[in-house]
Amino acid sequence: MKVFYEELLNWYSRNRRELPWREDPSPYHVWLSEIMLQQTRVEAVKGYYQRFLNTLPDVGSLAEAPEDTCLKLWEGLGYYSRVRNLKKAAEEVMENYKGEIPGTSAELKLLPGIGSYTSAAIASIAFGERIPAVDGNLLRIFSRLEMYDENIRTSAALKKAVQYYTELMPEKPEKIEEGNPCGNFNQALMDLGNAVCLPGTVPDCGNCPISDFCRTHRERPGLEADLPVIPAGKDKKVEFLTVFLIRSEGRTAVRKRPARGLLAGLYEFPNTAGELEREEAVEWLREHSVEPLRIRRITDAEHIFTHKKWIMRGYEVITDPFSEKDIPFIMASLEEITDKYCIPSAFVTYLKWLDPNRNIPKSR
Ligand code: ADE
Repeated sequence: MKVFYEELLNWYSRNRRELPWREDPSPYHVWLSEIMLQQTRVEAVKGYYQRFLNTLPDVGSLAEAPEDTCLKLWEGLGYYSRVRNLKKAAEEVMENYKGEIPGTSAELKLLPGIGSYTSAAIASIAFGERIPAVDGNLLRIFSRLEMYDENIRTSAALKKAVQYYTELMPEKPEKIEEGNPCGNFNQALMDLGNAVCLPGTVPDCGNCPISDFCRTHRERPGLEADLPVIPAGKDKKVEFLTVFLIRSEGRTAVRKRPARGLLAGLYEFPNTAGELEREEAVEWLREHSVEPLRIRRITDAEHIFTHKKWIMRGYEVITDPFSEKDIPFIMASLEEITDKYCIPSAFVTYLKWLDPNRNIPKSR
């Protein structure tokens, strides 16, 4: 008789992806990778992961690093509260666990930024705990295996999936030297979701090692593509902004965002709500002690967040040099903007505008 986990683990031993965090799955490595992989694709994470470890190779160095250093290493990855929580959690590990990352999902879940999925992923992959790490891939696979046709984005669906996989998981061996079947079970399902049990119309059931266990494939072949059931999302809220590139003698104004809320603690180009006309823009600048010598419309830009969308209108403003004491901004050199201040991707169009080698687009 075929055993689910044997088929799955055999497939994994032949098809597993070689990923940087799988080379040496220490608790710190797995933890960092799992935080980076939340809401972010594997390909996007690879480079960030290596660079982060080059600068902050262990939990102690992360705990001691300035927050701006951590944010800079995260620049472009998005969801910056992840790295702020990672750092806070590292501080807690140093203070409360003598620098040893705790080894159970229950303890891990008490740390900032670590929820049910992440605690299970770290505990299983780094410590061999017998616990399923149910992410979007595992939910999709579950919905097909069980022909689950209710809304998958509910706590009831998650609970069912956890129960289902818990029954199917291999036992944890006595000694870690005997391998890590539970961590591999979870990662096998992640890889299966990435290569075979794909979302939408393209599941590759002919190459699935566990299709014999799939109720949908058995009873309603073809229906796999319609599962899981995901309700239509709400429309995103749209916000209009005017962004200023205030420039003087090769420097550009930036400011730190508030410590709470969207993109907290990151740096940005000065901006304000609404799409300002030129006269309104000049008025806003004067209110902020900037007297423009020249002002011109530059490119518009858009950025989509999880829950909202920004539509931005840009102005480039040339001004006389002034002392930073006189204005509520930091006048940063291009080098400082590149190396020191973390500017989120929402402003990437304007960041590129500052690049002296860019193709010069027409002003408007
Ligand atoms: N996504 C989240 N964690 C992962 C892992 N360990 N391997 C592959 N994809 C993942």
